[in-house]
Amino acid sequence: MAELSPRSAVQRMAPYSPPTSGRGGKLRLDFNENTVGCSPRVIAYLKERLTEEQFTVYPEYEAAREAVSSFLKVPEDQFTLTNGTDEAIQVLINTYVDDGQDVLIPHPSYAMYRFYAEVAGASVREVRYREADLAFPSDELLAAIRPDTRAILISNPNNPTGTGTTVDVLRVVLERAPHAAVLVDEAYFEFCGVTMLGWIERYPNLFVSRTFSKAFGMAALRLGCLISQAGNVTFLKKAQSPYSVNMLAAIAVRAAVADTGYVERYAQEALASRDLLYAGFESMGIRYYRSEANFVLFHAGARSIAVRDQLRERGVLVRDRGYELPGCIRVTAGTAGQVERFFAALKEIW
Ligand SMILES: Cc1ncc(COP(=O)(O)O)c(C=O)c1O
Repeated sequence: MAELSPRSAVQRMAPYSPPTSGRGGKLRLDFNENTVGCSPRVIAYLKERLTEEQFTVYPEYEAAREAVSSFLKVPEDQFTLTNGTDEAIQVLINTYVDDGQDVLIPHPSYAMYRFYAEVAGASVREVRYREADLAFPSDELLAAIRPDTRAILISNPNNPTGTGTTVDVLRVVLERAPHAAVLVDEAYFEFCGVTMLGWIERYPNLFVSRTFSKAFGMAALRLGCLISQAGNVTFLKKAQSPYSVNMLAAIAVRAAVADTGYVERYAQEALASRDLLYAGFESMGIRYYRSEANFVLFHAGARSIAVRDQLRERGVLVRDRGYELPGCIRVTAGTAGQVERFFAALKEIW
């Protein structure tokens, strides 16, 4: 039989395969997750609420939407719950970008921006973060905006560089690209406190995403949120599956947003650990970049893959980023004890 031929956009894509197995039981400093777990109240609430009937019925979102609305202080018609940020990116692209249209993405950044733009057949242009300090390339991005640019996808602060930009700079981007959907992905908001949420009413082309995967420690549940003006949200929902958020996530989020103290304490601890990472790198003479998020990028030179593998043998997972930033490794900041364990292993192999 003749082989089925996929769409040409899919044929052109490079396969993307992040390490997705064998991470259990190790010190997970490779995905910027919460390294200790979600609030115990989330687990308790799930246990209390789960019934056979819950599993039988398609998920209902009223209570989750109310909880997220009052947590974010955003009216219910200005957001849609999503299956992680990943679905937020996908829905935004599917709503606004046609085959062949122009999408701008600062690089390096979160791989799923390019992934969903490519699946849609968009024409992706990248603007490099500044080489010397990995600063946000504001002038370069502004210069790259064209009248036909349909979407601009920005992570603030950015993964994997850790560097961020300001509300003022993002406002200039929004003003220079009124014809483009501008996504500001705030996956690491809890660690930096900079947000564009206050500008939703002002800019009809602004889309902000948030996630419960990072500081909230609920990556496995896959829950995010995409916020924009109500008129835009109506279109986003037209392009979204009605049941993409699962029932466990819809229940868990109610307990998660009721225990913000837990997340605030964890964020403080991660920021203190980030300082310990800086200090440790300095004492070992290792070059690193200051970060606005819960991870730090450091230079391991030509040995970066070997360093990653040897850390793994010692039960410590970190992420090699050498394929986009030569010699660089990204390590998540969790607790002080975890930083200690990381350096104990690193010193053995350095
Ligand atoms: C910038 C950024 N956005 C989104 C995500 C993933 O978010 P989610 O788990 O909500 O899909 C990540 C995860 O690494 C990220 O770094």
